[in-house]
Amino acid sequence: MSNGLADSLGRLGTETAFEVLARAKALEASGRRVIHLEIGEPDFTTPSHIVEAAVQALRNGETHYCPAPGIPALREACAEHLSRHRGLPIEASRVVVTPGAKPFLFFGVLATCNPGDEVIYPNPGFPIYESVIDFAGATPVPLPLVEDRGFAFSAEDLADRLTPKTKLVILNSPANPTGGIVERELNLEIAKLLADHDCWILTDEVYSEMLYDAAHDTIASHEGLLDRTILLDGFSKTFAMTGWRLGYAALPEPLVEPIVRLLINSVSCTAPAIQLAGVAALTGPRDEVNEMLAEFRRRREAIVTGLNELPGVSCVMPRGAFYAFPNITGTGMGAKELADRLLSKAGVAVLAGTAFGAYGDGYLRFSYANSLENIHEALAAFGGLLEQQ
Ligand SMILES: Cc1ncc(COP(=O)(O)O)c(C=O)c1O
Repeated sequence: MSNGLADSLGRLGTETAFEVLARAKALEASGRRVIHLEIGEPDFTTPSHIVEAAVQALRNGETHYCPAPGIPALREACAEHLSRHRGLPIEASRVVVTPGAKPFLFFGVLATCNPGDEVIYPNPGFPIYESVIDFAGATPVPLPLVEDRGFAFSAEDLADRLTPKTKLVILNSPANPTGGIVERELNLEIAKLLADHDCWILTDEVYSEMLYDAAHDTIASHEGLLDRTILLDGFSKTFAMTGWRLGYAALPEPLVEPIVRLLINSVSCTAPAIQLAGVAALTGPRDEVNEMLAEFRRRREAIVTGLNELPGVSCVMPRGAFYAFPNITGTGMGAKELADRLLSKAGVAVLAGTAFGAYGDGYLRFSYANSLENIHEALAAFGGLLEQQ
């Protein structure tokens, strides 16, 4: 026995955001002030009517196991929401609910990929994609997101990577960490390419309602693709519900039973009181969500303007989510080195672009889920650090 651990664990990655958060918290514990721009979660509290729905549900005795794919009321609310928001005919029978959207990344890959299969995924992208592809023994095929295209890719780039071994194509719009989006025109081209290609698609749309001057378009709405697309959405971002752990997906019919089986083997089901809070979120008033979005828009302007004023830094205007992804190559420092210095010397926690894959080199990710005041303070501290170089 070597280290006593399964070999497969050597192929399982992680999310650097949690490590940086731990380092930032340790600094705070030693008395330092730290501005948190590393973690990808809204700083707002969950709208009160959603909290009330969960409290009420617990008081009403919703404290037991429930059906593994989700309670009918939430599956129906999700189907109705997806159908309306994406303009698609989605039946509740193909909606599955999980604790957070993340399990669909794991289970989606495990349910579809064998060792040797190729999976195309955005890079820089959410690190869990590459991690779970590797874990499944499949081959990760990065699809570079290019700054000059507003962090999109071209149809040719995708075409160049499609092979007879491609089993799954992962898309993410709006995207973490770049804030880029996949426009309808690009989806039309992708749909044409994939029409001739027998593979699954996983479209991660957890930021679908966090858009600025852009319309959401899902690959699932394009001809013939709904029946082979895992369309993923959740509550963490839109409703400031990260800690509740609630997500859902519309699955191709043949994947419903296998993914529910993976759920039964891992978590059994999603807490019913949390699911009832999800029903309240999807069917209740939107005022607080709209206020959050308006605030994110103000912060986006402030952070992008401020970053572009710093020497050696340039930042494209993100179209969605709540991340800015500035190019820092002009500072002469590498992404990891600069992120480390920002935390240790300036008290600003951010992530190196390389935390999102090799194509993130030369960039930092700033999550602007923090107050305008803190964003201005962080920009000033960043500017001060660059002046000292
Ligand atoms: C692109 C992307 N997909 C999925 C998730 C997972 O979200 P959840 O909290 O619903 O599991 C995140 C969270 O940061 C994300 O950025």
